[in-house]
Amino acid sequence: MTNTSKSSAIEGYLKQFNPPSNPVLARLVKEHTERTDVIPCIGEEAAGFIYWLVRLIKAKEVVEFGSCIGYSTIVIGEAVKANGGHLTSIEIAKNHYREAVRNVREAGLSDYVSIVNGDAKVEFEKMSGPFDFIMQDSLKALYPVMIGDCVEKLRAGGVMVADDTLFLPVGKPEKMAVPMDAYNKLIFGDSRLTSTIVPIGDGLTVSFKCESKS
Ligand SMILES: C[S@@+](CC[C@H](N)C(=O)[O-])C[C@H]1O[C@@H](n2cnc3c(N)ncnc32)[C@H](O)[C@@H]1O
Repeated sequence: MTNTSKSSAIEGYLKQFNPPSNPVLARLVKEHTERTDVIPCIGEEAAGFIYWLVRLIKAKEVVEFGSCIGYSTIVIGEAVKANGGHLTSIEIAKNHYREAVRNVREAGLSDYVSIVNGDAKVEFEKMSGPFDFIMQDSLKALYPVMIGDCVEKLRAGGVMVADDTLFLPVGKPEKMAVPMDAYNKLIFGDSRLTSTIVPIGDGLTVSFKCESKS
């Protein structure tokens, strides 16, 4: 078996074990593959992992940057609903924002999810935190820039996930790949965090904020 057929066999097998199962998600996956006006969503494998992680740490206060039309927002929304928490998701594009609001409503998650139309950095600066879980999937140039504010507002024991962080080795254009590499280097050099990169999709950098020593 070649490495390529081995990884697609594993991917096919894993599909059956990937929660969550909100019926709106299947339509959104289809839309993300067929439409040219939306950027790819996190994908089903990452969705299963992120859902599990939010449940594992029992995250209640959650923030997401980059809702697009709501795929990852619904995945995280399902997890915070189960945890008795709340998700705020920030999306800059008006058209994406409107669709995300509609899709979250159709998914039955409006009571657990608020979507803010605006720039992730600007809107996050207005929030006080602390947050249990932070998901970064917005403008790639913002990833390194927002680290300081994110770590500050992440509670000790909280988790931060950034999508697409293997853009450099997978050969994505420099404009997106270079900030991803800068993000990883800053994150791994931050003594407040312990981090790992999970090779799901184009890479997920997962960081855990250590308890303060003082
Ligand atoms: C990769 S898509 C997000 C996909 C989504 N997380 C999912 O998995 O379904 C990136 C999104 O970030 C949004 N975005 C870009 N710049 C942004 C910014 N400065 N603030 C907030 N959102 C931004 C884009 O409009 C786009 O919808």
